[in-house]
Amino acid sequence: MIRVAVCGACGRMGKLIVRQVAKHDDMKLVAAIDAPGTPSAGEDAGELAGVGELGVKIVGADKLAEVLKKSNPDVLVDFTKADAAVQNVKTASEAGVSVVMGTTGFTVEQRAELEGAINKGGIKAVISPNMSVGVNVFFKSAKETARMLGSDYGVEIVEAHHVHKRDAPSGTALRAAQIIAEEFGWSVDKIKIKSVREGDIVGEHTVIFSTPEERVEIVHRAQSRETFAAGVMKAIRHVVKKGKAGVVQDMQDVLELR
Ligand SMILES: NC(=O)c1ccc[n+]([C@@H]2O[C@H](COP(=O)([O-])OP(=O)(O)OC[C@H]3O[C@@H](n4cnc5c(N)ncnc54)[C@H](O)[C@@H]3O)[C@@H](O)[C@H]2O)c1
Repeated sequence: MIRVAVCGACGRMGKLIVRQVAKHDDMKLVAAIDAPGTPSAGEDAGELAGVGELGVKIVGADKLAEVLKKSNPDVLVDFTKADAAVQNVKTASEAGVSVVMGTTGFTVEQRAELEGAINKGGIKAVISPNMSVGVNVFFKSAKETARMLGSDYGVEIVEAHHVHKRDAPSGTALRAAQIIAEEFGWSVDKIKIKSVREGDIVGEHTVIFSTPEERVEIVHRAQSRETFAAGVMKAIRHVVKKGKAGVVQDMQDVLELR
């Protein structure tokens, strides 16, 4: 049985992850954490996620170290916000708990802090700005297309999300840009990213390769957040069974797409 703690358990993604964990026979929710001082503290995480009582109460992140010690999870899943996530990973690392990180919007410094904490604690980790299987195939397709077309093609990325998304451009668009820039030996700044924030769009990404004569587009559209939560379940199993101590892996490792 994989013991799972969810950080950000009252959020859009956190509730879906609680729901999915409850549905999987090989997993058990053992802790549910949200922001320090959350008004939901003391509420049952399962009730909040709409799957009925799970016997796990929401706790503020100010008590994270204590909660991890008491509940002894194998994995901490974090879908919060960048500054909070860095703190949460430091605490998980000190407690020797593996991490599945879906939070996006890290600065270069925050990302280095995250990796430093994982390395120092020798914990196993999967970090990915997008946990959906489709998007990870989209990343791989973008890399292959770039390799086949060559760097004579210009590249632009367009991404669209709901109005509540904090970071722009999206972590997924930045990752796609990084993958193509690496393939072309370019600085990542050479790839323009256009962000749209409209209504309740779950997540859309288009990579456009173009010359004056033609255009190749690779498109991914997420229709439901369940696609991210389903990927999280794969990442949880992977980090427990195939994670490497002190090493950050991503969904390309989880899905064996390298
Ligand atoms: N990797 C992926 O596949 C993927 C998919 C969707 C969203 N995301 C990212 O996940 C993050 C969360 O997205 P969301 O739409 O669920 O946001 P959300 O705002 O609905 O939820 C975030 C939750 O985190 C809580 N929180 C804030 N500070 C905290 C702390 N210190 N400790 C614990 N919890 C804390 C908030 O109270 C909130 O309930 C964002 O960074 C988003 O970009 C990633």
